[in-house]
Amino acid sequence: MSNTFVIKGNGGDRNLHGTVRVTGAKNAALKVIAATVLFRDTLNLTNIPEINDTLRMFDLLKDMGADVTNNKRGSYNVFVPNQFATELSPGIAKRMRASIVLTGPVLARYGEVSFPHPGGCVIGARPLDLFVSGFEKMGAKVTIKEDSYIVEAKKGLVGAEFFLKNQSVTVTETFLMAAVLAKGTTVIKNAAMEPEIADLAAFLNKCGAKISGAGTPIITIKGGKLLSGKGHPYKTMPDRIEAGSFLVLGALAARELHITNCNPAHLESPIEILRSAGVFIETKKNEIIVRAPSHLKPVDIKTHEYPGFPTDLQAPMTVLLTQADGESTVFETIFEGRLNYTESLSAMGASITMMDPHRALVRGKTELKGRKLTSPDLRAGLAFVIAAIVAKGESVIHNVDTTIDRGYEDVENRLREIGVNIERAKMVPESVA
Ligand code: EPU
Repeated sequence: MSNTFVIKGNGGDRNLHGTVRVTGAKNAALKVIAATVLFRDTLNLTNIPEINDTLRMFDLLKDMGADVTNNKRGSYNVFVPNQFATELSPGIAKRMRASIVLTGPVLARYGEVSFPHPGGCVIGARPLDLFVSGFEKMGAKVTIKEDSYIVEAKKGLVGAEFFLKNQSVTVTETFLMAAVLAKGTTVIKNAAMEPEIADLAAFLNKCGAKISGAGTPIITIKGGKLLSGKGHPYKTMPDRIEAGSFLVLGALAARELHITNCNPAHLESPIEILRSAGVFIETKKNEIIVRAPSHLKPVDIKTHEYPGFPTDLQAPMTVLLTQADGESTVFETIFEGRLNYTESLSAMGASITMMDPHRALVRGKTELKGRKLTSPDLRAGLAFVIAAIVAKGESVIHNVDTTIDRGYEDVENRLREIGVNIERAKMVPESVA
C-alpha cells in the first residue's frame, strides 16, 4: 500500500482563498544538518521541515554515531562526537542525492569517507565528477569500487583553488564545508549562488568559520578549527521553491492567496515572469499576495542557476502555461530528464510538444481533466497536485511517499485550509493495481 492524494478539481474556477504558510527550506536544512559534523559541541537547529528527506539525513548521522534529539516539532539538537563512523549507510544514501554533501565535512574532520553512488530524483544523469576532482584537488585519494567511493586524506585536507565547470549547488556546498577544516585557503570559482549557500555560509561564519563571497561566483574560505554552536541556534530560512509553487497555484486558482513566512526577494525571477503573464502579485517583506487573472498570457521560460528561473519551479510553471492563451516555450537547461512528466499533463488534456529532451512547446488554453497520475519526482509531484486542482473531475496521484512527502510538510492540510478538496488515502500502487 502506498500513500496517494485524491483531489477533486475546481475545473478552472478561481475560488481558492486564504493564507498558506511556508515551511523551512529543504535544501537549506539538509546542508546545515550535514554541517553539524564541523562542530565540536551541540548545535540547535530550528524550523527544520518535517519531511522524509530531513528525517533521513538525521538517520544517516545517527547511524554514524551522532546524538540527535528532537525537542519539539522542527527543533533538533545534534552532537557529533570525535568517535564517528565514516561510511555513509548505503541503505539511506542511495535513496537521497543530498546525502553527498555530508562527504565534505566527514572527510575534512575524520580524514576519510566512503559512500555509494547516491540516489534521489530521476531527473538526469547527475554525475559526481566534480566531487571526485574537488576531493583530489584538496589532497585526497579517491578509489572507486563498483558502486562505491572511498576517499582518504589521512593527513587532512589542504586548501585548493578550483573552477567548477558547472555551477553546481551541492558541489559548492560540499567544498565550502570541507574547506572550513582544511589547512590554508580554498577558492571556489564559478560557485553556485543559490540563497541557501549564502545562508549556510553566514551561519557558519557566526560560529567561527571564515568564508567570504558566498552568494557570488567566487567564494574564499580560510580553513581553521572545529566550530562552536554555543549561543547560535540555527533557524532554517523559508523554502523559496515551496513559496514559488504556492504562487503558481494562486496565479491559476485563487481569488486571493496570502503566502506568508516567505522571502519574496528570493523569488524575483518567478515573480517577474508571472507578472508578465498577467498575474496580480503584491510583495511585502515576508509575504506575497497573489490573485489569478481571468486570462493568462503565454510566456517563454528558461531555467537558469540562481538568480535565474529555478529548475525546481519549471514543472509547476508548465502547468500554468497550459492555461495561458497562446503558445509558450519551456527550456530546461539544467537537467535533461526534467520534462518527462509532460506526458502525464498531455494525458490530462494539455497540448505539449517535446522539441528535444530540454525543450517543450505548450499550446494553451486547454481544459485539463482529472486522471490517475504517478508522480515521477518531487517537484513534478507538486506540479501534478496543482494540475489536479485546476482540472475538471477527480485525480489520484500515486507515489506520494517517495516523491511529494520527501519535500513538502503536511501539504494536504495546508492546501485544504485554502479551499482545495484533497484527501490522503492508502492504495495499492498503480503498477500493481
Ligand atoms: N554536475 C556535474 N558534475 C557533478 C555535479 C553536478 O556535471 O559532479 C552538473 C549536473 O549534472 C547539473 C549541474 O551540475 O547539470 C547542476 O546540478 P547541481 O549539482 O547544482 O544540482 P544538485 O546540487 O544535485 C541541487 C538541488 C536540486 C536543484 C539543483 C539545481 C539539493 C539537495 N538539490 O541539486 O533540488 O534542482 O540544485 O538548483 O540542494 C529538489 O529539491 O527537488 C532538487 C532536485
